Amino acid sequence: MKLFIDTADIDEIKEAYSLGIIDGITTNPSLIAKTGKNFESVINEICSIVDGPISVEALSKEYNDIIEEAHQLSKISKNIVIKIPITDQGLKAVKRLSQEDIPTNVTLIFSPAQALLAAKAGATYVSPFIGRLDDISHIGMDVVDQIITIYNNYDIQTEVIVASVRNPLHILDAALLGADIVTIPFRVIQQLTKHPLTDIGMERFLVDWEKVPKKKGG
Ligand code: G3P
Repeated sequence: MKLFIDTADIDEIKEAYSLGIIDGITTNPSLIAKTGKNFESVINEICSIVDGPISVEALSKEYNDIIEEAHQLSKISKNIVIKIPITDQGLKAVKRLSQEDIPTNVTLIFSPAQALLAAKAGATYVSPFIGRLDDISHIGMDVVDQIITIYNNYDIQTEVIVASVRNPLHILDAALLGADIVTIPFRVIQQLTKHPLTDIGMERFLVDWEKVPKKKGG
């Protein structure tokens, strides 16, 4: 399973990349707004750090405008993936961009039927938002399960990015279902390495190591 980081924060991206386990990045308008920086400078900086797919959202609503925006964004780097919300106009744009070999990530997916349509349009990726479904008492991971079943039934190549991740269990469940990618906030990446028994175990090893006789000056 590929791991993406879900952020536009440059320090978080640098820190996560230094771990050597991150394969790409997803951003959205809210994450970019949180940085307080100018859009172009954030994207350019991300492109200078990240070697892998970088999802950037197109904000236009009409087909022609989405295509225009996608073309502009694609010029920034070969790694840019155009994130497009699932709407009728968005689907049409995804179809056109797939014919132009411009990668797309169809976002704000909340049902398997939406994911099927996105795949039919030629989406490179779909992003079901798990946490937001959990927030309204729907089991977000059930949607991922059904999307994967449908894609397997028809040998669909669109990759599933599990998004809107809130905790390490979401990553575990995504991996058990065989999701292609999970995009993870920095805070949750940090949680993933942690286990209280690891901390206790390290502490005990250090204490015991002090009891081991050692060569003088060694
Ligand atoms: O990148 C989109 C997604 O991961 C947003 O997550 O936490 O705002 O629901 P969240």
